[in-house]
Amino acid sequence: MSLARRRFDTLVIGAGGAGLRAALSLAEAEATVAVVSKVFPTRSHTVAAQGGINAALANVLPDNWHWHMYDTIKGSDYLGDQDAIEYMCRSAAHLVYELEHAGVPFSRLDDGRIYQRPFGGQSQDFGGAQAARTCAAADRTGHAILHTLYQQNIRARSHFFDEYFAIDLIRDAQGVILGALVLDIESGEPMLIEAKTTLLATGGAGQLFRTNTNAHINTGDGLAMALRAGIPLQDMEFFQFHPTGIAGKGMLISEGARGEGGYLLNSEGERFMERYAPHAKDLASRDVVSRAIYTEVKQGRGCGTHKDHVLLKLDHLPEALIASRLPGIRQMAITFLGIDPTSAPIPVYPTAHYTMGGIPTNRHGQVVVPVGQGEEAIPGLYAVGECACVSVHGANRLGGNSLLDIVVFGRAAGQQIIDYLKENRFHRPLDEASLAQAMAHLQRWDQRGEGESVAALRAELQQTMQEYCGVFRSAAVLGEGLEKVRAIKARLAGVRLRDHGKIFNTARIEAMELENLVDLGLATVNSALARQESRGAHSRIDYPERDDVHWLKHSLFYLEGERMDFKPVRMKPLSVASFPPKPRVY
Ligand code: FUM
Repeated sequence: MSLARRRFDTLVIGAGGAGLRAALSLAEAEATVAVVSKVFPTRSHTVAAQGGINAALANVLPDNWHWHMYDTIKGSDYLGDQDAIEYMCRSAAHLVYELEHAGVPFSRLDDGRIYQRPFGGQSQDFGGAQAARTCAAADRTGHAILHTLYQQNIRARSHFFDEYFAIDLIRDAQGVILGALVLDIESGEPMLIEAKTTLLATGGAGQLFRTNTNAHINTGDGLAMALRAGIPLQDMEFFQFHPTGIAGKGMLISEGARGEGGYLLNSEGERFMERYAPHAKDLASRDVVSRAIYTEVKQGRGCGTHKDHVLLKLDHLPEALIASRLPGIRQMAITFLGIDPTSAPIPVYPTAHYTMGGIPTNRHGQVVVPVGQGEEAIPGLYAVGECACVSVHGANRLGGNSLLDIVVFGRAAGQQIIDYLKENRFHRPLDEASLAQAMAHLQRWDQRGEGESVAALRAELQQTMQEYCGVFRSAAVLGEGLEKVRAIKARLAGVRLRDHGKIFNTARIEAMELENLVDLGLATVNSALARQESRGAHSRIDYPERDDVHWLKHSLFYLEGERMDFKPVRMKPLSVASFPPKPRVY
């Protein structure tokens, strides 16, 4: 088969905010950039981010980046790397103003400055009064940022391959990454994109769980590509459950709703968060609020016929405030529930939201793997955004830090790649064996015939992850879950792709997405079983305490042999004193 081949300086896989921010730096530096996206770029999942982007602008309340840094480290339950966190929090204001100047229509204060709302886990003065750090474009901040970055990339002449699916990385015998094999979804034809540098920016894997806030496309493709290339995934046991998904359905009701003054009630009409987080109450960290909701329901104080959710009350807020600051939330509640939150509360329950683990990188976006006592960057390979683990979120991400992460580290990776390209001016020879392996991976799916349906198997995986690897975990339940995920992996070989004798392109892609999800299920459950403590979003009922003596370390999962390894947390910031672990209360 003749194979289409293209060459670029940089291949960016994924057109969400992280990929587009990196591509913009590169295109402006006159590198040739290919952006491959399995959907039209402005449909990437960044578009769904609601509440905002954190930066200590101090427009509404006193603030500074050092307090932001402290909150992020505390929010991470001390598992975040403090050098990367300092870098992110220090860069935040600059990056937000850069977005403003690029055209992001932020909501405004009366004096014209950017509006900022309070979000969970934010404080003034290292744990004092609530801060207001989240810059918002109403409740459609991700939409505003993604569209702006896309338009800027069009201006800068980034080259887009819309509706192309990335299959596998190509690497040579020295371990240098040379690009990727991709598939044109419309024609079904594969194409080789050779690149001096490849950046993974494919987003998270929220589709691992039955109830989630994520787009259908969030199948963790870049993470699974990394695993197949022998790269471990870091901290995969830490999956964020957002406290306020629409009950039973999962769609996101932004933390901005509580930031604007909304609060949670149980069936007894009690503001129960006062018991779990006396200081921060409804704006405690997400892991704390999710566990509280789960506990209320488990102890019989859930609402509704099945007592299976709690209520988010907004009807005490002025209608004009909801119209200007939360218009999308109101519309969603009306569309999906027939409830107008200006007059009735919204039923909510925790929903899978964010992959805190991912491809291990340093703060320059370089993918790093353990070598001897240290670690080394893989030449030519970078990762940013939700598919990466820098790690700025550690065991629990703060709301509003994800949009920040994508622009800070998207830009950092872009700058690092520009430097790399100056030193590495020529394409390396293609490794035909690696290409043949990627082609064989694709062709294996052409032989699949008459077995069970991909959609049914995906639903079974999602149900398994939801039941066996949810908000609260134990060795017994995780162990059962692991056997189930392994069994699902074994059944993958027999899935049905043919329909009326033909294999449709989309069927092949759905099967490969499921293959990716299954490997990420293995990564998540194995990592959750290995970590015998409770930290951040990982709550083990058999190990209820945080254990800094044994577990203040990052986990690493390798696909081959389902092997675990560990590496230290970088506790040393760049320019300030480190924040040592202490009890985490809100
Ligand atoms: O609640 C939200 O608006 C989500 C924000 C985030 O995940 O950062």
